[in-house]
Amino acid sequence: MARLLAVLALVAAAAPFLRAAAQGDGELLPFAVGAAPAGCDVGQGEWVYDEAARPAYEEAACPYIPAELTCQAHGRPDMSYQHWRWQPRGCSLPSFNATVMLEMLRGKRMLFVGDSLNRAQYVSLLCLLHRAMPEGSSSFETVDALSIFRAKAYDATIEFYWAPLLAESNADDGVEHQLNDRLIRGAPMDRHSRFWKGADVLVFNSYLWWMTGDKIQILRGADNDMSKDIVEMGAEEAYRLVLHQVVRWLDGNVDPKKSRVFFVTASPTHASGQLWGDEAEGSNCYGQTAPIADASYWGSTSRAMLRVTGEVLGASARVPVGVVNVTQMSEYRRDAHTQVYSEQWAPPTKEQLADPKSYADCTHWCLPGVPDAWNELLYWKLFFPASDQAL
Ligand SMILES: *[C@@H]1O[C@H](CO)[C@@H](O)[C@H](O)[C@H]1NC(C)=O
Ligand SMILES: *[C@@H]1O[C@H](CO)[C@@H](O)[C@H](O)[C@H]1NC(C)=O
Repeated sequence: MARLLAVLALVAAAAPFLRAAAQGDGELLPFAVGAAPAGCDVGQGEWVYDEAARPAYEEAACPYIPAELTCQAHGRPDMSYQHWRWQPRGCSLPSFNATVMLEMLRGKRMLFVGDSLNRAQYVSLLCLLHRAMPEGSSSFETVDALSIFRAKAYDATIEFYWAPLLAESNADDGVEHQLNDRLIRGAPMDRHSRFWKGADVLVFNSYLWWMTGDKIQILRGADNDMSKDIVEMGAEEAYRLVLHQVVRWLDGNVDPKKSRVFFVTASPTHASGQLWGDEAEGSNCYGQTAPIADASYWGSTSRAMLRVTGEVLGASARVPVGVVNVTQMSEYRRDAHTQVYSEQWAPPTKEQLADPKSYADCTHWCLPGVPDAWNELLYWKLFFPASDQAL
């Protein structure tokens, strides 16, 4: 009953935009309650400064944000990065409603799979839902690669599985991983994917770890054969191979009548001010307090990698994969990274604080912040899929 009410509320809010969200055979995609208006690409639009509506939650009020992402707690002097709201161009959809989301997830399992950026989106979602949940009605635990959040009142779990390259690799240990000399196993990804089975909503990402060097080593041997038959491949080619494996796995393990699958595109970095015309020596995201205003701005994100993402996922015929395209919207946000206001494995040292140009983290994002907007895109894609899902 509560679920029905939530659906009705969602439908009522969307009434002006509703068309049937039909698949080829006239059936609704699971979780869909309507369709986005034709031509609505929620990843295109602009950031609107809105102190009344943003942030969606307070940093200190969300217990799930790790020290790597709590910028205020680590002395960030400005707050404006928290006040930007994403406005898609030419379409309005109902705003994120935590109660509705929880009702729709009742009895379900939602799983994020990927790297630290995807984990940030996962944490952001927990924060967005946190306010709507009664005190003491949830639990959170991490065992090895898997984190599980339980919303007991809804009999729902929202989970995160660490697999930064999706395939098995020497980056799989959440703490003791290698950034360079990446080695991945070319064989099917069973060791990971057994944790993915049965999820009702799957949200993948993978980008950054492919970009830390030109070459990736692929181990072609079977299990327990970590030494033999290694070939080197370009990152793009290796990424294509692994994405194909993901699609093959989806094909054999996901029922498109029950489950939905999403892929979140590359999260951009802002490591060099030259990209946005700041010629000061060593300038980067450090000290930035406003987004880039140039609507056509594109930094250093690999278009080739995005093309591979689109091509391989677009060819997934049996199980449609919704591309949550966060790249362009995030390109504008040079102001929203953690800079030096976070704690990785240890608090920043004096030397690091004295030299922010060298030490600023221009990859990860403060929370609340940009990943909250990614979840709005995900929300829209989940409940109001475009008739062409790839949009
Ligand atoms: C969210 O949806 C519920 C219905 O399930 C409604 O009662 C509530 O007012 C909505 N909240 C917001 C902030 O729109
Ligand atoms: C994501 O959006 C960017 C910028 O609009 C576009 O160039 C890219 O092709 C899109 N990628 C995918 C996989 O849809």
